[in-house]
Amino acid sequence: MIELRQILKPKMVRPHLERALALLPDGSALAVRSGEQLIAGVGEGCEAMLPEGEGVMTFSLRIDDQEIGLFLLKNASTDEALGATLLDFAGNALQGLAQAEHTRKAVAGEALQSYREMALLQRAVQSFSQSLKPETVARILLQETSSRAARMEFGAVYLQDGERGGFRRLCVLGDHADALFDKLEELDLQRLLTTTPGILNDIAHHPKWPLKLDRVGALLLLPLVSNDEKLGALVLGGGTAEAFASSDLKRAETLTSVAGTAIRNAHLFAAQKTMFHSFVDVMSSAIDAASPFTGGHCLRVPQIVQLIAHAVEDVQEGPFRDVAFSEEGWEELQLAASLHDCGKVNTPSWLIDKSTKLETVMDRIELILSRLELLKRHLVLTAYEAWGGTRPPNQDAGAELAARLQALAEDADFLTSCNLGKIAMTEATVDRLHRLAGTEWSDVLGGPYRLIEERELEGLLIKRGTLTDKERTLIEDHVRHTIRMLSKIPFPAELKNVASYAGGHHERVDGKGYPLGVGGDGLPLQSRIIALADVFEALTAPDRPYRSPLSLSRALDILADMSRTGHIDPDLFRLFIRQGVYRIYAHLCLSSDQIDAVDENRYLSLAVN
Ligand SMILES: [Fe+2]
Ligand SMILES: [Fe+2]
Repeated sequence: MIELRQILKPKMVRPHLERALALLPDGSALAVRSGEQLIAGVGEGCEAMLPEGEGVMTFSLRIDDQEIGLFLLKNASTDEALGATLLDFAGNALQGLAQAEHTRKAVAGEALQSYREMALLQRAVQSFSQSLKPETVARILLQETSSRAARMEFGAVYLQDGERGGFRRLCVLGDHADALFDKLEELDLQRLLTTTPGILNDIAHHPKWPLKLDRVGALLLLPLVSNDEKLGALVLGGGTAEAFASSDLKRAETLTSVAGTAIRNAHLFAAQKTMFHSFVDVMSSAIDAASPFTGGHCLRVPQIVQLIAHAVEDVQEGPFRDVAFSEEGWEELQLAASLHDCGKVNTPSWLIDKSTKLETVMDRIELILSRLELLKRHLVLTAYEAWGGTRPPNQDAGAELAARLQALAEDADFLTSCNLGKIAMTEATVDRLHRLAGTEWSDVLGGPYRLIEERELEGLLIKRGTLTDKERTLIEDHVRHTIRMLSKIPFPAELKNVASYAGGHHERVDGKGYPLGVGGDGLPLQSRIIALADVFEALTAPDRPYRSPLSLSRALDILADMSRTGHIDPDLFRLFIRQGVYRIYAHLCLSSDQIDAVDENRYLSLAVN
């Protein structure tokens, strides 16, 4: 309703009245009233002048056909025509003034409203763009609406639940709001949004409202929409019957329109993230699938990494007391753990699983043993040909053949053990291998045939383990490939360390690891965690080609030794023991045969070299 006193101020009206009064004789009076209230008056008794007063003439002041006030004139002259003319003239002047002022205020009000809306939009866009998480967007939406709707007491944001259908409550605001929304959810909120969106004041007497809600006088319901896609809803409540005005609705609509876009962006971002993590999982599975022996390594290492990282965050004292990972830090660490061996896609699978010195695509010991068998038969045939019959000419000849065959059988055992890396490479062993490698024979079909080829001798002469230097370099190259591959992925700034964390999993704290030989403070905690997890998984894995799975205590013995000698971080190892990380993982992933008694105190008291 338009009120005259809000349009015309006394100082605007009074000059007009004074000019008109000057044309009237003494004793006349003029006034402008808005209902009971006097806006301005001049002349004798103007304050008490009322429309029904004697000799008082009135002029109705109107805007948009609505009477908003009266112009009153009391004429002390006997000239009635003068009074009527002045009433009409001054009244129309006041009417024009009121109309002009009303239009000016309306235009200014609209401009102010537009400015406020623009300011609200700008602030909302800034607030919502700070996060790509629906939960954060929902929280900001509730905070922004509550700061602008004075009588809002509680609110909730709902999102469409893609999996279960219907709405899922994402975020609430206000005292006891959860209990209230539990009750409200007895209704079909989706239906409610289509039948009664907007303001529902005085719900206790609202014809369409079907539910009694304690402490709730009014509701405001709005859908969250983006690109015509229904994403959820905003529900606000107030304790009084007339809690919400149309201005509250307008502001809430502005905020929900921006929030809808922000939530849609958050969904798109989450979908992209899920897709990326699926690729990572597929890649980890593919690396594991390349080897029947290390299957599951790339999936189990992240599990151990997660357990260690949680222990690092939980501990309240010691070197890790101040360590806390941000949400992005967790993601970075998990990605690095999942992809730490991705460079193995460039390593031949036979080399990853190489369990004997002569294994390549096949184990060449089988060829050597076949040749030994041929040699034995060649000796037998040669002997029988020399004897010219089926029996040895004398006992000595028979014994000599038997001794040579026995020696070859022993050579076969020796070569088999040597191939498995079970025989120490002493001078005598090396001499015997060279002697056997020099064994040659010919027969009627050709020759000479060699018992052991050059590259087979090279393999058998490996001093430790089953890898030649070249093969070891090839294996170690997987870390360089990991770094190279991950460096090509354009990770966002908050994940920029994935390549370096993953690429440090074969570094040692004493700086003697590979590929860079960084240690000490140059080796990030994340790489140390992955390194510890990597070794522990490898030691306890069920199907490594080199050995049967180790017991828990044996694996921890080896880890203790590695922490003592600068291979893995001793502080992390102590945490691994003290916080029981090894035990949790053992019960999750190891077979019951592997889990034996562990003397934690022995590991915790170990000195470091
Ligand atoms: Fe590795
Ligand atoms: Fe690994």
